[in-house]
Amino acid sequence: MRAPHVFIETFGCQMNEYDTELVRSILKDKGYRFTDSAETADVVLLNTCAIRENAHNKVYGHLGALKPLKEDKGLVIGVLGCMAQNLKKDLMEGDSLIDILAGPDSYRSLPELLEKAAAGRKRMAVDLSEYETYADITPDRVEGVTAWIAVMRGCDNFCTFCVVPYTRGRERSRGFDGVVREAEALAASGCKQITLLGQNVNSYRDGAHDFADLLLAVADIRGIERVRFTSPHPKDFPEKLLEAVAGHPRICKHIHLPLQADNDRILQLMDRTYTRTEYLALVDRIRTRCPEITLTTDIIAGFCSETDAEFADTEDLVKQVEYHSAFIFKYSERKNTIAARKYADDVPDDVKAARVTRLVERQRAISLKKNLAMIGKPVKVLVECDGKRSSDQWMGRTDGNIVTVFPKRGLAHFREDEKVPDPLSSIKPGSLTPVRITDATVTTLYGEAV
Ligand code: SAH
Ligand code: SF4
Ligand code: F3S
Repeated sequence: MRAPHVFIETFGCQMNEYDTELVRSILKDKGYRFTDSAETADVVLLNTCAIRENAHNKVYGHLGALKPLKEDKGLVIGVLGCMAQNLKKDLMEGDSLIDILAGPDSYRSLPELLEKAAAGRKRMAVDLSEYETYADITPDRVEGVTAWIAVMRGCDNFCTFCVVPYTRGRERSRGFDGVVREAEALAASGCKQITLLGQNVNSYRDGAHDFADLLLAVADIRGIERVRFTSPHPKDFPEKLLEAVAGHPRICKHIHLPLQADNDRILQLMDRTYTRTEYLALVDRIRTRCPEITLTTDIIAGFCSETDAEFADTEDLVKQVEYHSAFIFKYSERKNTIAARKYADDVPDDVKAARVTRLVERQRAISLKKNLAMIGKPVKVLVECDGKRSSDQWMGRTDGNIVTVFPKRGLAHFREDEKVPDPLSSIKPGSLTPVRITDATVTTLYGEAV
């Protein structure tokens, strides 16, 4: 009998991408095989996100599109991840197409759920765990230059706007040795860059080891060229972590430091537990210790009761800090969160949208200015794959995580005398290549290998 084929689609953050690799591993062990379209699959799993309403809407859209396949060939449909955890049985009610639901801590039960579904029984597993870290499961990754490892799961911060503490449960860290062994195995398989993931990596702890220890241990593994991490919370950015970033040549000089808002009243309503003064002092401390740092951020526009003047504070700070880039979101009320229970979502949608548009424009100008300033400078690019537009180009990233595109062939290629080997011909995915920047847009640097 043909092994059942599974198609998994992943929404949301890198943590979900990592979880999809765990799910693949769990299912592969039980004989499942994978395919890359719903048409060729027996089972479709959507690994979902719940962070904003449009994340939910995307999933409803995809579910709707699966209806004909469900009717034609009895496709089994499963919803995994944060939206499954958040909405639970509500998702299964009425004439729902969904056969199984599994929250982020329930992936070990997937084979059993799928067996029941094949026998026509709808099932869900949405218990959160205080201990599950999937530490013994090796993710089924597409082998390549970059990989991620979730070093902790869950979040205990309860920022009032955020659904993550409810969808991913309490904070827990993976064992130090296990993470280091996984990173060593990745290095041995040719991986060059590892990103350590957690909703709040500063809370990582295993016995005497904190996050900086873990970061340094991974950066010291032979073969690993770059280590990144996301995200630290601005409320507790330890000096030791800053030392690690500033001092270790293979820890990328890039910090994603979510601001959310800059007005103290709004920050307090969000329960971010820092003030604008403290945030700015941290930025100052980071830049003094590591002047070459690339800073990026997340911002929410139109949180409950935010006035135009209060949002203007955020705009001012963006101008002052000059992030390299920023994700700017409209506030989206999430069921069960503290904000949903305590505050009114009273900023009109068009006002939120106008604030986002204005700030995005401002940020784009800053991003462009920063990228243009890199023209003429040499940067080191870790080559990842062919450029999107042409297979005659390589795409990679700078240490600061900026996408950089450059031609695969050097001038020698154009010589009549092809006996002169093109010095660039040895570049391949995984090469750490010096590139001189010659042009730039808001999001991309262009250059030539030197
Ligand atoms: N743990 C990470 C954030 C993960 S969620 C951190 O604290 O850095 C990624 C981003 O989504 C957040 O930084 C926030 O800007 C945004 N976000 C979270 N909840 C949101 C909501 N209800 N509406 C709009 N944006 C939200
Ligand atoms: Fe959400 Fe705050 Fe936790 Fe980040 S730190 S996941 S924003 S509750
Ligand atoms: Fe990630 Fe979305 Fe869940 S951002 S943690 S997949 S709610």
